[in-house]
Amino acid sequence: MKIIVTGGLGFIGSQMIRWALDTVPDVQIINVDSLTYAGNPANVAGYSEDPRYRWEAVSITDHDALEPLFADRSVDAVINFAAESHVDRSIMSGAPFVTTNVLGTQILLELARKYHVPRFLHVSTDEVYGSLGATGLFSETTPLNPNSPYSASKAAADMLVLAAFRTHQQDVVITRCSNNYGPYQFPEKLIPLFVTNGLEGQPWPLYGDGLNVRDWLHVSDHVRAIWMVLTEGHRGEIYNIGGHNEQSNRAVAEELQRILGLPSSVMVAVKDRLGHDRRYAIDSQKITKELGWEPLIPWQEGLRQTVSWYQTHQNWWKAIKSGSYRDYYAHQYGACNL
Ligand code: NAD
Ligand code: DAU
Repeated sequence: MKIIVTGGLGFIGSQMIRWALDTVPDVQIINVDSLTYAGNPANVAGYSEDPRYRWEAVSITDHDALEPLFADRSVDAVINFAAESHVDRSIMSGAPFVTTNVLGTQILLELARKYHVPRFLHVSTDEVYGSLGATGLFSETTPLNPNSPYSASKAAADMLVLAAFRTHQQDVVITRCSNNYGPYQFPEKLIPLFVTNGLEGQPWPLYGDGLNVRDWLHVSDHVRAIWMVLTEGHRGEIYNIGGHNEQSNRAVAEELQRILGLPSSVMVAVKDRLGHDRRYAIDSQKITKELGWEPLIPWQEGLRQTVSWYQTHQNWWKAIKSGSYRDYYAHQYGACNL
């Protein structure tokens, strides 16, 4: 089975590639990743020499560079992870959220259709549903109501994917997952930012009152779900994926504090994120009933393993948080929270 995985040098895409090469003997992977600030070849170190794997440093917005990858009609599936993924950056001007997340998805869809790729899996997010109050869950039929430029661009891409199904009967599936955590997550996101700051003796910037809620899922449970949807999901369908694990940001920080043995003074209340979604929570009954998927990694165990990974992989994140990297990031994007 030959798969084009886009964004495979990022957090979740690289987990997908490592998992597939370890688990699926006849898999072949072409990793299309243009290596933005969030991509890192070290995320697939140890796999780069595998004859079943190759990396193409191409943007999903570059139609002409992508076409030869599709043209021999041997591709069995596309899994589209590539995206600008960080909400805070989407609030600043200048980052290519619409170009990558919307236009890039449309270009991939058109090429997959032109060369008869049998399946296109689009990796979306629970953020397309907007924000919940104190109760309720997002189901696949919850109307889209995105609030940030990031989630608006992801919702637009979802619409294009569904339009390809309805207009052209293209075989597509969409997954919408909740917040992921685990190894190799870029340290601009809550958990790796706090863990690495903690290891460096830096404070933890907790936005607003710290009571915004996210539904956390270990990244390995997410990629297992994606594989099930890719191989067994029904065409034209959307599958929610969630951890049944709602935690306020303050509760996450307190748990990390306990694991790292830090005082509560490490948490510092800072100005809230603009338009900060209050609560996300996923109803994932559909994927459980139809495909038999359930999360396997308990939260506290997964979080301990994740902290331990950052403790034993300091070279990985220190290279990212180094001065030269910060300079590059600030030059490209104008601000840096690392
Ligand atoms: P990430 O930011 O860690 O990685 C994104 C990857 O995409 C990077 O390797 C980057 O180099 C690559 N990329 C960016 N623009 C590209 C372009 N134009 N062409 C080719 N490659 C490009 O992101 P992530 O956290 O791994 O998220 C992956 C996907 O999963 C995204 O689509 C995101 O919306 C979705 N998602 C993420 C989460 C989460 O909690 N992180 C949850 C649900 C869904
Ligand atoms: O829900 C899925 C989404 O989860 C994905 O689609 C996104 O790609 C991914 O980045 C993530 O979005 P969030 O905005 O929920 O993740 P983030 O780690 O940025 O923030 C998690 C929560 O923590 C959120 O309520 C904001 C808060 N936060 C975040 C940072 C970076 C802080 O309080 N302080 C911080 O420094």
